[in-house]
Amino acid sequence: MCGTLRASDAGKKAVLMGWVNKRRDHGSLLFIDLRDRTGVTQVVVNADRDAAIHEKAGTLRNEYVIAVTGTVRLRDASTINPNMPTGEVELVAEELRILNESKLPPFLPSDTALTNEETRLKYRYIDLRRDAMQFNIETRHKVAKAIRDYLSDQGFFEIETPFMTRSTPEGARDYLVPSRVQPGTFYALPQSPQMFKQILMISGFDKYFQIVRCFRDEDLRADRQPEFTQIDLEMSYPQPESVWGVVEGFLTAAFQAAGSAIKTPFPRMDYDEAIRLYGIDKPDLRLPAFTDVRECFTAENLQELAINANLPVIAIRTPKVGELSRKERDDIKPMFHSKGGAKIFEDFKRIGNKYPDAAAAIAKKTAMQDGDGDLIVLVAGSAQAGPQTAMPTHRKVTPAELAIYASAGLLRLALAQKYADRHGIFKKTGDPANDFRFLWVTNFPMFEWDEGEKQWMAAHHPFTSPHEQDMTLLETGVDSVTDPQSTVSAVRALAYDVVLNGTELGSGSIRIHRQDIQSKIFRALGMTEEEAKSRFGFFLEALEYGTPPHGGIALGLDRIVMILAGAESLREVIPFPKTARAVDLMCDAPTPVSDRQLRELGIAVKK
Ligand code: AMO
Repeated sequence: MCGTLRASDAGKKAVLMGWVNKRRDHGSLLFIDLRDRTGVTQVVVNADRDAAIHEKAGTLRNEYVIAVTGTVRLRDASTINPNMPTGEVELVAEELRILNESKLPPFLPSDTALTNEETRLKYRYIDLRRDAMQFNIETRHKVAKAIRDYLSDQGFFEIETPFMTRSTPEGARDYLVPSRVQPGTFYALPQSPQMFKQILMISGFDKYFQIVRCFRDEDLRADRQPEFTQIDLEMSYPQPESVWGVVEGFLTAAFQAAGSAIKTPFPRMDYDEAIRLYGIDKPDLRLPAFTDVRECFTAENLQELAINANLPVIAIRTPKVGELSRKERDDIKPMFHSKGGAKIFEDFKRIGNKYPDAAAAIAKKTAMQDGDGDLIVLVAGSAQAGPQTAMPTHRKVTPAELAIYASAGLLRLALAQKYADRHGIFKKTGDPANDFRFLWVTNFPMFEWDEGEKQWMAAHHPFTSPHEQDMTLLETGVDSVTDPQSTVSAVRALAYDVVLNGTELGSGSIRIHRQDIQSKIFRALGMTEEEAKSRFGFFLEALEYGTPPHGGIALGLDRIVMILAGAESLREVIPFPKTARAVDLMCDAPTPVSDRQLRELGIAVKK
């Protein structure tokens, strides 16, 4: 292949097939860089040896597909290219066949400057010929294979579950598939194989996994695609730790396959602690945690600054930012989005001038390195706002505190992103303990208040088991669903997320294995018995036939590969992705269908 010939092959005959990456004419000598997925080899065509081949080679254009037979020759010392693995040799052409011609592509795989993404996606087959994309797709293959091998060795069976099925709730909209045979009825594409994998535990398979496509009709972002791939697994009789051990094992294998080492076991953190320290449930541990510096101020200071003394005062330290210009300082405020009652003090110097004692205490408490140009920004509760929200909760972190933490959490990330070039924290160092900061976030709340619907919703999914100790908090009567003050807010779930460098890689939980508790949770989510029966009747019934305790997790394969490939978007690691508007630009899908097809399906489209 085009990337394999070495100096030790000199004198041998070789046949190479591939694409013309570049052609250079030097009079009687003509050079062709011939490319396939393994690399590039220089082919030399000499008019003095064979005028006919030379003439044919003269007709070659970029991306023509050719076959060359020739002899491998060592290059002259002066023409050796140390940047190419094949740079010591060249192939002297003795026979040349044009296997296929190519139109001039809208961009070339060898172009150093990237063309716009729309063109790349429309001509994806050209884009995929680029080195970077070949590397990403190869990484994806290696990662998937390592995981598959690891889990198989651990006694997991890979079992397929249906794509044409019923709705599985994971918080997004379903993609529907109309049935022709039963007009007016629809399959839903699975948002995840959640219920099937639980039923596989009931079916006695004990350890299941699947590298499986999932479908979600939701608003797309850089780390979301409408169809994406999960590494989905389920086990019978696990503790959360047993699931974590399996995940740490297959991630180690996957990262190793991609040439990176990681450190296990991953640290663990309670959801509440993550919120208090980072203002987010997927903390990026590469950046410093918050410091609550309320105590650094006197009561008078707080009053003068119109800061609510009952709420935390968060210091965000962004390391090694350096001196900021006036304009740069002015740019910080617009980066701040208050989640209600939170306000920002972006000019630490000014605070220092007015409150030198407080500033000194803060610098000490945050371990601020003034000489290194650490940036300190404060986020606090506004005194004027009075009571922050009418909604009390039985959680450890109150909604008013949450508003401060969450506003500060987003600002912390925005600042880190903005000054990434300066502090270099996101740059790979080669040290796994630095580069890949994994974390287990545990003990999520079971329910989340939905202000739009004015009711409690499942924070993970409704099959997640509550903590045994919190079970009594569920017994709060029918109104608890719509009562923001209900004690259900304090119910913790046996749920866990695995987070890497601030990205949620995966989510899982220990499941409910008792039918009565499952019904209770459906009730707590405001589902009537009839509704629960019609949506999940088959599942509730299955739970009644000897369901073993079970639990599992699913990780996003695309996200893992994205991080390993150092890519900014999932589109870089999915061969044929969709745009942010869920369009496949290459095949131009989705499309309208013929009236005949619609009639057969009994569907009328309203324009
Ligand atoms: P969850 O919905 O958290 O859990 O999904 C698990 C992981 O799948 C990935 N993911 C996505 N990746 C790309 N595009 C998307 N639109 C997208 N949505 C999710 C994320 C996420 O962490 N059935 C449960 C798992 C379980 O409880 O075992 C589930 O699907 O990396």
